[in-house]
Amino acid sequence: MPLKAKVAEAEAPAKVILLGEHFCVHGAPAVSMAVNLYAKVKVKAGRPEPSEEPRIEASFKIHGVKDFLGLSRAIRLAAEAVLKKIGKKLPKGFPSLEIEVSSEIPVGAGLGSSASIASATIAAVSKIAGLTLSKDQVLSLCSIPEKFIHGSPSGIDQATVILGGLILFRRGEPPRRLTPAKPLSLVVGDTGVRRATKTLVEKFGRLLRQKPRRYLQEAENLTFEAVRALREGSFERLGEAMNKSHSLLSRLDVSTPELDRLVEAALNGGALGAKLTGAGGGGCMIALAKPGEALKVAEAVRKAGGNPYFVEMDDEGLRLL
Ligand code: PMV
Repeated sequence: MPLKAKVAEAEAPAKVILLGEHFCVHGAPAVSMAVNLYAKVKVKAGRPEPSEEPRIEASFKIHGVKDFLGLSRAIRLAAEAVLKKIGKKLPKGFPSLEIEVSSEIPVGAGLGSSASIASATIAAVSKIAGLTLSKDQVLSLCSIPEKFIHGSPSGIDQATVILGGLILFRRGEPPRRLTPAKPLSLVVGDTGVRRATKTLVEKFGRLLRQKPRRYLQEAENLTFEAVRALREGSFERLGEAMNKSHSLLSRLDVSTPELDRLVEAALNGGALGAKLTGAGGGGCMIALAKPGEALKVAEAVRKAGGNPYFVEMDDEGLRLL
């Protein structure tokens, strides 16, 4: 294989789900947004020995990221997915790969860290291999490590972090970019509680099956209400939809006392809306602040025991550095 680069680097943003998490696994639409916290992946190709059998084993140095829930196995799967695309039979002297991850995105917290790391790994390994992959091709390869970590994910995480921006997502359909009428002022509050999406998604599926169909319909209505509010720049209505979404998710046991405490604190701190984001069971919540009031909301979240982040939309998504 001709080596096109010895070192390649890529980064991908985190994501938040504004409306529709969990329900999107079951076919309802959801709105998500890529945000400016990043996972960076550096891939170094070792010197190929012409006589050596190809080694597709990668070694991992994960800085700032705990090897949580088999993350290093998922990174290896991401790298192997690219290598398999080149051909099953790799030539002798194929380089060994060293993969280094550094990330600002908390792992197991509902911000899509595994999708960011996996997609950045795919982009960097393909650069090393001289492959030019479209974002659609990265999306499809990324489902291999994502399925390993999350079981049967909807695909919303990888779609959002790869494409960037604000996304209207429905499982099985191409994700659509949305343009908000004005920028959103969002505060993320981390409860510090780490959990596994896979178990939470399975539990939600069991609970949803016992509920009437109108739960799914309610989630769908809230997502479309949010899309209209975003297009019209009516953040009061968006905030209301977020509040209703939090209470709907709570009725399906997705929230926790820690999440509820941060949501309530953000609302008391003047937020227009607040809800858990991602799989729940711990992890993070988001609050929509009035313009100029993000600091006040973040302070309220901090006082209630959360770790606040100010986030802005990342418009570009996955990129090579
Ligand atoms: O908690 P996260 O970042 O893994 O978000 C998962 C979003 C879910 O809707 C709960 C699952 C999915 O695959 O869509």
